[in-house]
Amino acid sequence: MPVFAATPEIIAEAGRFLAQAGIVAFPTETVYGLGADATNDLAVAAVFSAKRRPVFNPLIVHVPALAIAERLARVDERARTLAAAFWPGPFTMVLPRLSGSYISDLATAGLDTVALRVPAHPIAHALMLAARKPIAAPSANRSGHVSPTTAQHVEADLGDVLHMILDGGPTEVGLESTVVDATGARVRLLRPGAVTAEEIEAVLGVPIDRPHAGDVDSEKPVSPGQLISHYAPRARVRLDAATALPDEALLSFGDGPATGANIINLSPQGNLLEAAANLFASLRRLDATGVATIAVMRIPETGLGDAINDRLRRAAAGR
Ligand code: TXA
Ligand code: MG
Repeated sequence: MPVFAATPEIIAEAGRFLAQAGIVAFPTETVYGLGADATNDLAVAAVFSAKRRPVFNPLIVHVPALAIAERLARVDERARTLAAAFWPGPFTMVLPRLSGSYISDLATAGLDTVALRVPAHPIAHALMLAARKPIAAPSANRSGHVSPTTAQHVEADLGDVLHMILDGGPTEVGLESTVVDATGARVRLLRPGAVTAEEIEAVLGVPIDRPHAGDVDSEKPVSPGQLISHYAPRARVRLDAATALPDEALLSFGDGPATGANIINLSPQGNLLEAAANLFASLRRLDATGVATIAVMRIPETGLGDAINDRLRRAAAGR
């Protein structure tokens, strides 16, 4: 049984497990999260695999304090004001990622931004301190299911694939955090949550953009990821390539060419978890060579292959 009462000993063990690329479900004040070391691509890939997410949405990176957020993202005066008002709490800010930040490219889905949150839950805090890592965590439900607000919900959905679910009782808020994009001239509401647009506007003293204001009260949930931009390389992307043409870079897989000059093999063993972990960093590296086109070999449409192919198709479609 993977559900454990969150004693200090269990939290210490969960922290060690996280730091060694394990994944752990834990309570926050909003919903239970499925956490991984946000600096480890393979650990983050394991989260997507466990959730059976068909797409790689960028994940929220949980940090214990604003000071840690400042090491990962550019926190300007406005963001600091919002942090002072709403952290710790059910509030997530998308901010420009600092170049040289060691956050996994898979956690941010290859974007130059990162979503950060300081949760207000003692177990979440203790876990972050025990792991000594920022924790990337989507809600701990099977993809397409509703977010879990008890450890038993998590167990029902993911008990067969998780080793550790920390039980902190029912969550207080029961609804995911509010997500805002604070990278632009105006703050934009990306996902409504416990912190309301009115509260944010009261703190800022200026209106924020609410592209989905009409959906907030409706039955129809705002589809996550609907409002986010997707990573697209500068180079053209050619899919289903059998081989690379002379002036192309090659993203290969499995039996394809091994990593070499202008070639990266996502996983010579044909392991989709490894391929997912390497995907965004590899695209970025090939793009940085300055080639006009990145040829991509076929990736199987099974398991994480669906999410990999979804992202590759978006990359091929451009911005
Ligand atoms: O309450 C919550 O927020 C829970 C707990 C565990 O913290 N987490 C959660 O994560 O709901 P998730 O992965 O289910 O939702 C993350 C949301 C998605 O809508 C995603 O598109 C958005 O945040 N997001 C993350 N990074 C982003 C980025 N760089 N740019 C735009 N949106 C981003
Ligand atoms: Mg979710």
